[in-house]
Amino acid sequence: MSYCLKQCAKLLRNLQILSPRRYLSQEVLRNASVLGIETSCDDTGCAVVDMTGKILGESLHSQNAVHVRYGGVNPLIANELHRRNIEQAVAEALENSNLTVDDIDAIAVTTRPGMLMSLQVGVKYAKYLARKHNKPLIPIHHMEAHALVVRVSQDVPFPYLSLLISGGHCLLAVVKDVDEFYLLGKSLDNAPGEVLDKGARRMKLKNIPTYSQMAGGRAIELAAKHCKDPDLFRFPLPLAKYRDCNFSFSGLKDALDRNLMKKELEHGVMGDGIIPEVNELCAAYQLAVAEHIAHRTERAVIFCEKNTLLGEYRNLVVSGGVACNDFIYKSLQVVTKKLGYEVYRPPPRLCTDNGVMIAWNGIEKLRKPCGIIADIPISSIEPVAPLGNSLINEVKQSNLPVRVSRLRKMCL
Ligand code: KG4
Ligand code: ZN
Repeated sequence: MSYCLKQCAKLLRNLQILSPRRYLSQEVLRNASVLGIETSCDDTGCAVVDMTGKILGESLHSQNAVHVRYGGVNPLIANELHRRNIEQAVAEALENSNLTVDDIDAIAVTTRPGMLMSLQVGVKYAKYLARKHNKPLIPIHHMEAHALVVRVSQDVPFPYLSLLISGGHCLLAVVKDVDEFYLLGKSLDNAPGEVLDKGARRMKLKNIPTYSQMAGGRAIELAAKHCKDPDLFRFPLPLAKYRDCNFSFSGLKDALDRNLMKKELEHGVMGDGIIPEVNELCAAYQLAVAEHIAHRTERAVIFCEKNTLLGEYRNLVVSGGVACNDFIYKSLQVVTKKLGYEVYRPPPRLCTDNGVMIAWNGIEKLRKPCGIIADIPISSIEPVAPLGNSLINEVKQSNLPVRVSRLRKMCL
């Protein structure tokens, strides 16, 4: 065989998707445990999870405190810190599980979407471990993992409606199965966590010691609790005229800037100074983000009902870092309750990026015959990777009206 043909044959072998039943025996499948590795953004997360959803061990090296200083996630610094932490993070997760790599049955790793250099660190390390210890690999889609992790500890049957709200993503999707997703809406510009983080930076919340080390969204949530006048600031409702489930947060960020500049001028606040009404501004900003998310989600619920997409079930699962926000969670309960929906979310530490969600997705993929892979070519890393099949046009064509729920009184 020519060199070229040999290379092709090798590539095809590497790409070969193997049924888990062929790859792992029934006995092994019953008691399988998976090591999960997550490095798609700025957290090095590793965990070992077993077939029952028991988290045997985990480790999380967050880079948030470093990136906060630079005003956002810096890809070069993220890459460097992942490289420094990956070996230790895996070792800690295994040590906490009282297991070695040889004891686990497969290695799941995030291959898409995310920051290229960050993804590369996790995938390269997973490949190295898999080769050294002769373990199969399971490539994981970061957003699918966010959408499924709730099932590690709560009994939420398929299908359900999933709302993913994080620092990098914002989408609504029907989760029919472990490997079957239908996208109903997505953000046309920024993600909610991103605008909350930028807003927190603009309001200079990190100069307040209590909030200095915190994610921006969390700082805004806490500051909003001290609000004395919820009517002081007003924000527009984005995309109010568009009868779809897409999101847009950039207008809210601009409106925050305008409100802030006006107050800074009024009080002569400069440099590191903070306006006296900062808590009121945080509350109004958070309310605007919550109302927009709730408005679009309500339309998604109605769309699911009209098209009986969820069969007999009425469940909404909210995940991603912004799902930690109690105000937003409550507002979702308010708008979906009238349609008989139950709202679930993973515990806060599993809402943000973590290794458990990757390991758990590996377990869910092992359970179904949707395949594990002998090796992951480095070219399978995809910084951009949409979730599932799009029903966005179908939602638009349905042209469903939704009355705007003003949530201030209901949730404050
Ligand atoms: O899921 P995640 O860890 O990373 C991405 O995949 O993006 O989400 C991080 C985001 C950050 O923007 C952070 O500000 C936001 O989640 N976040 C919150 C809260 N805790 C974290 N946003 C609002 N309220 C919170 N309590
Ligand atoms: Zn995430």
